[in-house]
Amino acid sequence: MRIYHIDSSARKEESTSKLLARLLVNKLKKLGDTSNYRDVSIGLPFVSGIKGAGFIIPENERTESDHKLFKISDQLIKEFKDCDTLVVSAPIYNFGPPASLKAWFDLVARNGQTFNYTDKGPVGTVANIKKAYLVITSGGVVVNSSIDFCTPWLKQALTFLGVKEIEVIGAEALNRSPENLEKAKDKINSL
Ligand SMILES: Cc1cc2nc3c(=O)[nH]c(=O)nc-3n(C[C@H](O)[C@H](O)[C@H](O)COP(=O)(O)O)c2cc1C
Repeated sequence: MRIYHIDSSARKEESTSKLLARLLVNKLKKLGDTSNYRDVSIGLPFVSGIKGAGFIIPENERTESDHKLFKISDQLIKEFKDCDTLVVSAPIYNFGPPASLKAWFDLVARNGQTFNYTDKGPVGTVANIKKAYLVITSGGVVVNSSIDFCTPWLKQALTFLGVKEIEVIGAEALNRSPENLEKAKDKINSL
């Protein structure tokens, strides 16, 4: 198994989503398996200067800062394509995903790299990921409820690129009671 582990909380050691994702990766990892780690809350730019949907800036029109953007995008796509199992942790921020996770996805969703425009519309081309696990934490919102726009967005975004099997591990209402974190840990331990 080649695991790609992505965290997105703006918190560091005290982050509950990072703690739970680490627990999950340790649970999934067997002898000989590898994992690659990326904390998207650190240092990713927002896309800018784009000429069209699908991350299009013609090669001969790229400025120096566009080249930097494409270099980061290339690296993130390489990491994304070099795994068979994806673990993404995300806290719900203001009913949606952290901006850093959206910034990551905007850099990864690229025409000709992770999806193609076809006669039938856009088609995802990421076939390497056999299973994706989403660890979603919240302070109070119920994960997958009508006011959680983080989980459905992330599921749709990954499905769009071709990821077929997605399992959501909801760790909700962590600010209401410390027991809720223990319940989430139990969920992961019993996988
Ligand atoms: C900027 C910000 C916005 C938040 N917005 C929400 C929210 O809309 N709904 C919710 O239930 N919790 C919200 N929370 C609480 C976090 O989702 C919750 O504390 C979560 O466990 C944080 O995960 P972490 O410990 O990995 O950072 C927010 C927290 C922050 C820092």
